[in-house]
Parts: sequence; structure tokens; C-alpha cells
Amino acid sequence: MTRLRISAVCATALLSSLLLARVHPFGDAGLYTPNPSPAPIMEHSSVPPQVRDLLTAKCADCHSTQTRAPLYGRLAPISWFMERDILEGRKHMDLSAWDTYTSDQQQTLQAKIIQQTRAGKMPLPQYRNIHRNSAITAADLQLLTQWAHQSSPLATDPSQPLPTEGSAVQGKLVFEKRCTGCHSLAQNREGPNLSGVFGRTSGQAPGFTYSPALQNAHIVWNELTLDRWLTDPDAYLPGNNMDFHVAKPQERRDLIRFLKESAAPNSSTP
Ligand code: HEC
Ligand code: HEC
Repeated sequence: MTRLRISAVCATALLSSLLLARVHPFGDAGLYTPNPSPAPIMEHSSVPPQVRDLLTAKCADCHSTQTRAPLYGRLAPISWFMERDILEGRKHMDLSAWDTYTSDQQQTLQAKIIQQTRAGKMPLPQYRNIHRNSAITAADLQLLTQWAHQSSPLATDPSQPLPTEGSAVQGKLVFEKRCTGCHSLAQNREGPNLSGVFGRTSGQAPGFTYSPALQNAHIVWNELTLDRWLTDPDAYLPGNNMDFHVAKPQERRDLIRFLKESAAPNSSTP
């Protein structure tokens, strides 16, 4: 008698869970619509096969349209939270569309991939708990770092024109394109607030947690130090957390000029 009632309750719960999964409060990720041509991600890019395999195995479920949809994803409310993560992940970085990103966008994403994995933020913990093998290992991180370093043009590329004096107008454009992924002139983000950074001692943005390397460096940011930092942060200050560099000398000059002018007391901060 009671056993019958328990089974009835279970069946009802299962049925309503299945039905509720047809509702998509956070959006429909299209998980169970058949995908006729599951093309491998980054297929036509210059991304090394090992890196591609790594990103496919550990990241593509949320960061591409090649999501492997599990059975439990048919059950609400699991389905809802899964869809939320997937749609949000694709919005931030869609590996299926890698080839359509500009090389600047690719470089910024590479830097963010390293930053997010090194900080243990990606793959998301709720995913790692289920997919035990998806945690990023030290070897993975090394592979990703190597990839980022290899694929950016060399600072000494002779085909690049010699830099002329920096332009703050150009520098602002470069800043918006390359730096605002992590920095702003108004607040701390993944990187510290850069308002007034020119002329300031390193590691001083209030409320930002710096690496010990930068915290203890006591560098004053000027033309010379900023140029060295932006050329190759790792060579300048080993152990720092900024996985990004600007290879082109002209872009560095423009950026530095922009940072200098926006730090001047009589200029309005953009
Ligand atoms: C379970 C889904 C999920 C998995 C798996 C996952 N991510 Fe994410 N990722 C997200 C979501 C959601 C966001 C956006 C919100 C946030 O940052 O937490 C995000 C954001 C990011 C960002 C930030 C992009 C930006 O523009 O700021 C990067 C970089 C990233 N993920 C890299 C990775 C890498 C590398 C992997 C694999 C090692 C990975 N993610 C695995 C869901 C996921
Ligand atoms: C992938 C994220 C990321 C990108 C992109 C990035 N930065 Fe950073 N930046 C950081 C982080 C993180 C730190 C702090 C490093 C540390 O604590 O070791 C930092 C620190 C700095 C500092 C030192 C600030 C201080 O208070 O001492 C400067 C200057 C700087 N960045 C300039 C730039 C410029 C200019 C660009 C664009 C060309 C840029 N960064 C792009 C993440 C980034």
C-alpha cells in the first residue's frame, strides 16, 4: 500500500521534472535538438592539436556549440542551471567561432583562459564536481601558456615599422581594444584600476589583491618601466599575474602616452 504510494509520488516527481525541463527560464541552449554536423572546434585555426584537444575535452561543453548533452540534463531543475551556464559561457567565449575572432580578440581570450584556469575558476566548480577529469593540471597550464607565448608576434619582428612618438588618441583605441577585457580607469576588475597609474608606484590600487611579485616590486610607472612591463611582464617581474603583453612597439608608445595624459591632474578621465 505505502510502497504503491511512494512509487506514485516518485513517478509524478519524475514526470513533472521531465515536463518542467521543457521550460527554459534562462534560455534554450538547444541541447537536445540533433546536430547534423558536429564539426570539431577550432578545426581550421592554427591552434596546436594538443591545445585543441584540451579545450575540447574540458571547456567545449559550455564554450562552444558542441555541447555533449547528458541524460540528467533532461531533468528540471538541473537542466535550467546547466542551460544558464552554457548560454553564459558561450556568450563570453565561443570556441566554435574562434576563427571569426580577430587576432587581438584571440590574444585577449588566450590571456583570459590562462588567468581563469590558473586561478582555478574554470572549468566552473559545479562542472568539475561531476566531470572529475576536467580539472586543469599543471601540465595543462603549461601547454596553454606555451600556446599563448608562441602565437603572438615577436616584439622584434623586423617587418614592423619603427615606432614614432606615441599618440594618446591611438592609445585610447588600443586601450579599449586590448586592455578593457581586464582593466578599467574607474574600478578594479580582473586587473587593477589603472586610473592615475602613470607616475604611481606599482601595486597601489586600493582594494586589489596583487601577486606578491608586483606587490613587492615598488616600481614607479613611467615611460621606461611601462614599456618593459608591457613588452614582457614575465621577463620584467617573474611570478606576476598579468598574462598579457603588447608586442608592437608603436602600440606600447601610444598606450603609455594615453595613460600619461589620462593621469595628468588637469585632464578629464575618459
Ligand atoms: C560549466 C560550464 C563551463 C565550463 C565547463 C567552462 N566554463 Fe568558462 N565560463 C563559464 C561561464 C558561465 C562564464 C561566464 C561567467 C563567469 O565568468 O563566471 C565563463 C567565463 C569564462 C572566461 C571569461 C571570458 C571573459 O570574456 O571574461 C574564460 C576565459 C573561460 N570561461 C575559460 C574557460 C576554460 C579555459 C574552460 C576549460 C578549461 C572553461 N572556461 C570551462 C562556464 C564554463
Ligand atoms: C588578461 C587580463 C589582463 C589584460 C588583458 C591586461 N592586464 Fe594589466 N594587469 C592584469 C593583472 C591581473 C594585473 C596585476 C598583476 C599582478 O598582481 O601581478 C595587471 C597589472 C597591470 C599594471 C600594473 C598596475 C599597478 O597598479 O601596479 C599595469 C600598468 C597594467 N596591468 C597595464 C595593462 C595594459 C596597458 C593593458 C593593455 C595593453 C593590460 N594591462 C592588459 C591583467 C591584465
